[in-house]
Amino acid sequence: MWTPYTSAALFCAFSSHAAGCPPDPYNGTAADGTVALTQPYYPTTADCVEYNILVSVSYERAIFNFTHWEDNYALEQFFADVTTRPSAGFPGIVSGTELTQANYTIAASFCTPKKPNGKEKNVILATHGIGPAREHWNSSYQPKEYSFVQYAVEKGFSVFFYDRVGCGDSSVESGYVTQLNTHIAVLQELSKVVRSGQYTGAVGQPSKVILQGFSFGSYIVHNAIAATPEIADAVVLTAIGLNLTLGINANGLVRSFVNRIASLQNPQRFGELDTGYWSWVDKYALAENYFRYPYYDPGAVDFVESTKAPYSVAEFLTFPTVADASNFTGAALAITAETDYIVCDGYCPGVFDEPGRTYYKNAKPFVPYLHPDCSHHLNFHHNATGAFGVITDFLAENVF
Ligand SMILES: *[C@@H]1O[C@H](CO)[C@@H](O)[C@H](O)[C@H]1NC(C)=O
Ligand SMILES: *[C@@H]1O[C@H](CO)[C@@H](O)[C@H](O)[C@H]1NC(C)=O
Ligand SMILES: *[C@@H]1O[C@H](CO)[C@@H](O)[C@H](O)[C@H]1NC(C)=O
Ligand SMILES: *[C@@H]1O[C@H](CO)[C@@H](O)[C@H](O)[C@H]1NC(C)=O
Ligand SMILES: *[C@@H]1O[C@H](CO)[C@@H](O)[C@H](O)[C@H]1NC(C)=O
Ligand SMILES: *[C@@H]1O[C@H](CO)[C@@H](O)[C@H](O)[C@H]1NC(C)=O
Ligand SMILES: *[C@@H]1O[C@H](CO)[C@@H](O)[C@H](O)[C@H]1NC(C)=O
Repeated sequence: MWTPYTSAALFCAFSSHAAGCPPDPYNGTAADGTVALTQPYYPTTADCVEYNILVSVSYERAIFNFTHWEDNYALEQFFADVTTRPSAGFPGIVSGTELTQANYTIAASFCTPKKPNGKEKNVILATHGIGPAREHWNSSYQPKEYSFVQYAVEKGFSVFFYDRVGCGDSSVESGYVTQLNTHIAVLQELSKVVRSGQYTGAVGQPSKVILQGFSFGSYIVHNAIAATPEIADAVVLTAIGLNLTLGINANGLVRSFVNRIASLQNPQRFGELDTGYWSWVDKYALAENYFRYPYYDPGAVDFVESTKAPYSVAEFLTFPTVADASNFTGAALAITAETDYIVCDGYCPGVFDEPGRTYYKNAKPFVPYLHPDCSHHLNFHHNATGAFGVITDFLAENVF
């Protein structure tokens, strides 16, 4: 049986590989009995290096004005309140912003083809979404079908992918604090240090840096590129929807995620987190929000469920933010499932191209692409490699 951490080491709870930390007590068995494949998977065709990168950021963050929840009863009332008709006049939940300085350790991996082919200096810097941390990109579950890293390496590209603050082996802070702007600030720093060649193994200085995201990670990439277009040569936004008026059904999402306080839901894995961290209730909630039946294997759902990272209230409330990225002049691809439940309220045609084309009107080119027979989790449906191919073809054509 699992034994509780005896040290006050919140850090170790999420950085069990760090020096001085006890071995990871998480045994790969989730609360519902599903077994996680926690072994790191290294594509045989890749050379991979692991990094812990110290990142120092200074950014403007939203301050939330609500009582912290003690239990799931209080949390459920919060959901009922925030989704009530506006005429009920509930008070706003953001009370202002403040300039914050913070230092984080970011755990990252870099994989490059064993056989250099001239394209490996094109580095894809990938930011995961809500769900698995960096293993979103390097699935150890059926990697031939689901590992983007393996696919991209076989096409000759290099991939740098990292755990966001609050996830995996990176630093953790309160769930009432970590938010969209936290991750934008971290990505802006990471793209600088990756470009400098410090964290790209033997490849050295990249010739091109491509920022790629998934879902919440795509909103991070999009807003980072809108504010600081010079940080990338190209962007690949997977599972994004920029149309907030018709595409995102905020109340629907708050309800269908069926959020629970993460530390109460899975004390083994999330017990050290404060109540500002949530997790969806079970794998069927995951399936409703992220998958389209029958275009997936239940094993893929189990893998995602067993590797899911918790997400913070501040992230959940700040993710649907989109800025005009018209100062960006590189290549941009937005690829989302045609029937994406989360960002298109189930059906993308008609709400996908705009405002994307306007926001990226100076991108060369901007390509909006809808992928068939799939919902939000592009990387974990049957035809994931079809979506990966759209990405690598786009990059081969427009970046390399
Ligand atoms: C982990 O799982 C293995 C195999 O199922 C079992 O033998 C072992 O006792 C478990 N360890 C813990 C700490 O639960
Ligand atoms: C892939 O993800 C795992 C987490 O499952 C991570 O520990 C590992 O370092 C990653 N592998 C590579 C090659 O970076
Ligand atoms: C914070 O919330 C309380 C209770 O709803 C409200 O009275 C107060 O005006 C809010 N403060 C700010 C700065 O919005
Ligand atoms: C971050 O690190 C810098 C440099 O070591 C230090 O001056 C600063 O006080 C640190 N900030 C915080 C919030 O710990
Ligand atoms: C584009 O850049 C210019 C010059 O820095 C700035 O004034 C303008 O606000 C930017 N536009 C957008 C949409 O961010
Ligand atoms: C969202 O899509 C609708 C339907 O196509 C369109 O009328 C609207 O202008 C779009 N919203 C934005 C902000 O572009
Ligand atoms: C797989 O995905 C690609 C890219 O979206 C698409 O062109 C192809 O038709 C898909 N294949 C099947 C069998 O759906």
